[in-house]
Amino acid sequence: MCAAPVVLGIESSCDETGAGLVRDGRLLGHAVASSMDEHALFGGVVPEIAARAHVHALGPVVRRALGEAGLRMADIGVVAVTTGPGLSGALQVGLAGAKGLAYALGVPLYGVHHLARHVAADTLAHGPLPDPCVVLIVSGGHTSLLLVRDLGRDRIVHLGDTLDDAAGECFDKAARVFGLPYPGGPAIDRAARVGDPRAVPFPRPLTGPHDDPYGFSFSGLKTAAARWAERHHGRALPVADGAASLQEAVADVLTRKAVAACTAHGVGTLVVVGGVAANSRVRALAEERCAAAGIVLRVPPPRLCTDNGAMIAAVGDLLVRAGAEPAPLDVSVDPSAPLEYAALHPVARAAAAAGASAAAGAW
Ligand code: KG4
Ligand code: ZN
Repeated sequence: MCAAPVVLGIESSCDETGAGLVRDGRLLGHAVASSMDEHALFGGVVPEIAARAHVHALGPVVRRALGEAGLRMADIGVVAVTTGPGLSGALQVGLAGAKGLAYALGVPLYGVHHLARHVAADTLAHGPLPDPCVVLIVSGGHTSLLLVRDLGRDRIVHLGDTLDDAAGECFDKAARVFGLPYPGGPAIDRAARVGDPRAVPFPRPLTGPHDDPYGFSFSGLKTAAARWAERHHGRALPVADGAASLQEAVADVLTRKAVAACTAHGVGTLVVVGGVAANSRVRALAEERCAAAGIVLRVPPPRLCTDNGAMIAAVGDLLVRAGAEPAPLDVSVDPSAPLEYAALHPVARAAAAAGASAAAGAW
């Protein structure tokens, strides 16, 4: 039997250029470069600056990942790249680089959904996902509760999504009004350590008896944080208390709904992924509530929660092993792609669906 190929994953959807190498579910090496410092001045990511930074970082990052893995360019057997969602210019830089490498090396190319790789990141830490599982994706741009079966083949079912802001966006914007640095999530996490989570009674949006049980809304919470800060005008802001209370509200809503989704669907495993899964209170509360409900909790280590190329390689590796068809070389970016399948190009989707129905027919 021939050995599984080395998959190079390339990530460039936002401000980080990442490259990772995975073979057969094992991470061999990864490297990342960030243009975050260049954006900090503006309080958020500037798309044109991000795209230019990717142009400079892509080659060195791929070489560093290869160096860490002790591999050479010629060892790469598959290239996987984020094709969406994300910043259009930033995505295009990564895709152009990935196409060039795949073409030059004569190896298959896979276009991968940005969010699927957050899910796949957990497989690097904890092995294959159980089928089915409920996945809570909480990042800077997305908050979704998903019912996931076979990530490499099956359609992903959205149980609920955010109606407005994502949880990470709420942290980032609130941090700004609290006078904390960008990115706001880690800064709120740090400030909250010495704060009282009961100090400010922030709302728990969409948790009423008639609300969508799996829907999220964080824009009201963000506004509540801004109003609270405004009320202290002229006086010192108790930032630690505000941060701890906001973090508590976000962690409470996220984990309450995720556990309810598992219970209602009879699913025994919850997987929490995305940048906000690095949050210490989200992790602790998820652990507490899953243990109480008899649900197995899987959360990747913090370094695999935020964006990096290792995760793209992990999805590529899953797709190869699921027998998905590669992307054509004219595949393009899809900056606002919905998450339906891990692979983002129609050929792979069709092949995966055919595989899935063949598997279903075997029952
Ligand atoms: O998944 P990610 O790296 O990028 C996106 O796909 O958006 O997530 C970034 C988000 C940012 O909003 C950042 O503030 C948040 O994750 N984040 C955190 C923490 N670390 C990163 N939020 C709360 N606590 C953290 N420790
Ligand atoms: Zn992300």
